[in-house]
Amino acid sequence: MNLNYIKPHEWKIIEEGFHKEHVTASESIFSLGNGAMGQRANFEEYYSGESLQGSYIGGIYYPDKTRVGWWKNGYPEYFAKVLNAPNWIGIGVKINGKVLDLNKCEIIDFSRELDMRNGLLTRSFIASFPDGDMVKVHVKRFLSMALNEVGVIKYSITPINFDGNIEYEPYLDAGILNEDSNYDEFFWEILDKKTYDDEAYIMSKTLKTGFDVCTGMKTTFQLNDAAITLEKETHSEEKSITYQYTKSINTGDTFSIVKYGGYTQSMNHPVGELFYVSAQKLNEAASIGFDLLLEKQEKLWSRIWDTADIVINGDIKAQQAIRFNIFQLNQTYSGEDSRLNIGPKGFTGEKYGGSTYWDTEAYCIPFYMSTKDHNVARNLLIYRYNQLDKAIENAEKLGFKNGAALYPMVTMNGEECHNEWEITFEEIHRNGAMIYAIYNYVNYTGDVDYIASHGMEVMIAVARFWEQRANFSKDKDQFVILGVTGPNEYENNVNNNWYTNYLAKWCLEYAMENLELLKENYPQDYDRIIGKTNLEAEETIKWGEVARQMYFPYSEADGVYLQQDGFLDKELIPVAGLSKSERPINQKWSWDRILRSPYIKQADVLQGFYFFENHFDDKMIEKHFDFYEPLTVHESSLSPCVHSILASKIDRNEKAYEMYLRTSRLDLDDYNHEVHEGLHITSMAGTWLSIVQGFGGMRNFDNQLSFDPKIPKNWKSYSFKIKYREHTIKVFKNHESCKFYNESDTPVKIIVSGKEITIFNQDLVVV
Ligand code: BGC
Repeated sequence: MNLNYIKPHEWKIIEEGFHKEHVTASESIFSLGNGAMGQRANFEEYYSGESLQGSYIGGIYYPDKTRVGWWKNGYPEYFAKVLNAPNWIGIGVKINGKVLDLNKCEIIDFSRELDMRNGLLTRSFIASFPDGDMVKVHVKRFLSMALNEVGVIKYSITPINFDGNIEYEPYLDAGILNEDSNYDEFFWEILDKKTYDDEAYIMSKTLKTGFDVCTGMKTTFQLNDAAITLEKETHSEEKSITYQYTKSINTGDTFSIVKYGGYTQSMNHPVGELFYVSAQKLNEAASIGFDLLLEKQEKLWSRIWDTADIVINGDIKAQQAIRFNIFQLNQTYSGEDSRLNIGPKGFTGEKYGGSTYWDTEAYCIPFYMSTKDHNVARNLLIYRYNQLDKAIENAEKLGFKNGAALYPMVTMNGEECHNEWEITFEEIHRNGAMIYAIYNYVNYTGDVDYIASHGMEVMIAVARFWEQRANFSKDKDQFVILGVTGPNEYENNVNNNWYTNYLAKWCLEYAMENLELLKENYPQDYDRIIGKTNLEAEETIKWGEVARQMYFPYSEADGVYLQQDGFLDKELIPVAGLSKSERPINQKWSWDRILRSPYIKQADVLQGFYFFENHFDDKMIEKHFDFYEPLTVHESSLSPCVHSILASKIDRNEKAYEMYLRTSRLDLDDYNHEVHEGLHITSMAGTWLSIVQGFGGMRNFDNQLSFDPKIPKNWKSYSFKIKYREHTIKVFKNHESCKFYNESDTPVKIIVSGKEITIFNQDLVVV
C-alpha cells in the first residue's frame, strides 16, 4: 500500500496536515464533477510545486494525431483526448504584495475535506510568510448540480497578526495544454474575450473538432460576510483575463471573494448564444448565492444517496470507500444525456483519453441500472445504438462486409481511436459486451420493447461480425476464432480465447432467439428491421452452424476450459511465487517476459463465468476459480471485483473480502501506485457490484431476482437498495438475519438462498 494519509470518516474524505509529496494524488482523490463537467482538486491560488492541472467538459474531445513507431494499415488516424479545458477556478492571492504559494510558505493546520453528502470541497490552513505575516485561509468549492454549467468558490482570508493589503486576482486562462498531447500541440483556438463589470468571458473553439466553449467568471466580495463592492484593474492577455482587486484589511477581519465560473458549450446551445447563456447562468447563480446553491446541492445529493447509498456498520474504512466509489460514479455520469459516457478516469485525469471502453457495458451499466431510473442505463445503450453506423464502418475498414459491426475498443464519437494493434484489431471481445449489456438491461428492467426499437439491429450487426470473424478448421472440424486478445492483455494474438469464443457463440444464439421473439411478438418491428438490415434466411442458418460448432479449448486432465490454445505449455507458477519486488509486473518486467508468463492481468475465463454463471454449476465455477485466480496479478482495476463476486459465490469468504478491499480502496490507498494520474472510475462500479452481487449475492437470471446474502466477518451489518423493475427493495444483512423491505406499492417475488418469498408492498420480510 502506498498512501495512508486519508483519514477514515463515514461521509468525508479528509486530509489533515499538508502532504506536499501527495499533491497530485490529492488532486485526483478530491476531484469534483457534476456529470456535465469535472475538475481535479487543483488549488485556486498559484502553486509552484508539482501539480496536474485538469478541468474537463463532458463530450468535448480532440483527435490527437496517432503516434506509433510502425504504422499498420487499419490504425485509426487519431486518439481522442478529453480536453483539458480553460481554467476558471484560478484566483491569484497576494498578501501585502507577497504571492500566496503553499509550496513556499510555512503551512500550519492544513486540512482538506470532501463532503460526499453535498460534493463540497473545503480547504483551510494558516500560511506563515518569511517576514512573519500570517493569514488564515478558508476555501469552499463545489460544482453545481442544479445549474450544471456553473461552479462556485468562496475564498476567505483573515489576517492573523497584521493590518495590510490583500489582493485577489481572479482569472480565466484559456492557454491550457494537455499533458499527454502526442505532439505538444495546443488544442484550442481563442476566438474572443469579453469583460463587463465583475464578469469576464473567453470564447474558444477546439481545433479540428470545432466544439465552441464559452468560459466565464463572475466575482462578488464580502467583508465579514457582508457584501462589498470593489474597484478593479483589468489585465487582458492573448489567452487570459485577470482582474485585480485590492483591499486593506484589519487583523481578524475576513475578506472573501465568491467566484462563479464554468462553461457553456456548443453541444448544448447554439454557438451564437453561448456567451449570452453563460452570462445568464452566472448571474442566476450569483443571485441565488453560495449558501442557497449549496442547500440545493445537498438536496440533490440526498436524493441520489436515498437509493444509491450502501451503509456498512463496523468497518469505517470500508464505509468510506464504498461511498467514495458511489460518489465518484455519480459525479461522472448523471444519465440524462445519451451523448455522454463514462471514461475510465472520468473527469479526474487525462489518461485513457477520457473515452468510452467496454467498461461501461461490462461494469457500469448494472450500477446505474440498479441505483437510478432505468432510462439512465437505457441512455448508455442508446449511446452505442447511435454509434452503430460507425461500428459498421469500422468493421468495413478491417475487411468485414454486409453490415457487420465491430464496436471500437476506445471511442468518443463511435470511431475507433485505440492504436495498439493487439488491442485495436484483436481485443474484439468488446463487441460481445455490447450485446451482453442489452441482455442484462432487458432481463433486469423487463423493457423487451428495447430489443424491438433498438437492440435487435445491434445484435444483427454484431452477429454478422462473429460469423465472419470465425473460420472453420478442418483439423478441428469446428469453428475457431484466431488471432485475438482476450480481456487478459498480457497475452496477444492468441487462438481460441475461451471467453471470446464463448461470447461469440452466445451472441449468435441470442440474436437468433430475439429474431424469433420479434417475429412472434413484434411483427411490424420484425419486418422493419429485416428490411433495414437486408437480413437473409441463409445468414441465420450460418449463425446457427457457427454457434453449434464453436470450438472451446479444454483440458481433460485439469477439467477446465483453457484461456486459449496452448495455455498449458506455460510454466504455471502461481503469483504467490513472485517476489514483491517484481510487482506490478507491468512496471517491473519486459513486455516479452510478460507475454510468455502465465500471469493474467484481469479476469478472462472468469469474466465469462461471471457473465454466464447460470450456465455452469458451482463445482465448475470453483474449479475454474482455483485454476485461474492463483495466476492472476489483478493489474487492471477491473479485476478484483469479478474475483470478489465469484469468491463469494463459492464461499471463499476471506478471498472475497481481500478482493473487495482491493477494489474499494484502490484509489484511496493507491494500490496500483498511479492515483496521481486520476481515479479508476469505471472499476468503482465493480466495487458496488462486489457488495451487491458479491456479498449480497444478487442475481437476476430468467426474470427472477434472487439473493444469497453473506457478510464479511468484521462487519456488523450492511444494507443497500436496488431499483428493480417497478420496485425499490432495501436489503439489510447482519450476522443473525437478513431483512428485505419492499418500498414500492406492488408485491415482489424474490428468491432468498434458494427459497421463494413474496414481499408485499411496503412490507418487510426477515429471513
Ligand atoms: C484494461 C481494459 C480496460 C481499460 C480501461 C485496461 O487496463 O485491461 O480491460 O477496458 O484498461 O479501463
